[in-house]
Amino acid sequence: MHEPRYTEPVLTWYAANARDLPWRHPGASPWAVLVSEIMLQQTPVVRVLPAYEAWLTRWPDPAALAKEPPGEAVRAWDRLGYPRRALNLHASARAIAERHEGVVPSDYDELRALPGVGAYTAAAVASFAYRRRHAVLDTNVRRVLARAVTGVEYPPKAQTTAEVRLAETLLPLDPPVAALWSVAVMELGALVCTARTPRCADCPIANDCTWRLSGKPPYDGPPRKGQAYAGTDRQCRGRLLAVLRKSTGPVEKPALDDVWDDALQRERALAALIEDGLVDPLEDGRYALPS
Ligand code: ADE
Repeated sequence: MHEPRYTEPVLTWYAANARDLPWRHPGASPWAVLVSEIMLQQTPVVRVLPAYEAWLTRWPDPAALAKEPPGEAVRAWDRLGYPRRALNLHASARAIAERHEGVVPSDYDELRALPGVGAYTAAAVASFAYRRRHAVLDTNVRRVLARAVTGVEYPPKAQTTAEVRLAETLLPLDPPVAALWSVAVMELGALVCTARTPRCADCPIANDCTWRLSGKPPYDGPPRKGQAYAGTDRQCRGRLLAVLRKSTGPVEKPALDDVWDDALQRERALAALIEDGLVDPLEDGRYALPS
């Protein structure tokens, strides 16, 4: 069943209010869309923009990146965080070069088979690069649907099949319109239906929002964790990797020891980087980005 009552107001709102982002330009290649979606998974738009431009200038297509050692992808990942995404994007570029003749696939299952491409990213790339019809569920979309349709302030912590089914019932039937709807709902969540202080006065579906119409009942589920960073292993890994990124070649161990005081945590973080393939321990005792 298709439920169209939100479609028109959300599409009209998007036409007037969408941000002008480079991966949404008509000229953005499917590769550019894939790069943007991987970067945007866990990093805010303003931090993604410069890294995205630099990445595509250097590697305008998958074949260009596929020719490089993986360490160069890790180096170019810069300060985006969660750097395993860089290795995955590099491995995807090689898979696209080898299995798909250098062309990012348009088929959902083929996309899903690429390293680091989960259900969200496969649906996003099929939709935004190829105008296909897929339920695209990121945190913003999930929050909009939780409020507008389900009537709760926040979606469940882990995505449920009920959410996927709901998103599918809302998808316009015509694929290009569905693709536009998907990015429009995402933008509504990013700009208006925000997590903490939604701007309901500016919302095109406020009069059809179950949560608002029932008096905005506060969330009463389990506590939602914030993203602590200072002092975490993740911060420590970021510092260690930054040393290797800035260096043109392998580094000695003391250069790594320098950037984090707690030796136990530092060794644990270094071991995790090695385990993830982000750092190569060399025979001579030095450390390098993966070759
Ligand atoms: N446009 C398309 N996909 C996006 C995303 N993941 N975040 C922000 N804007 C987008």
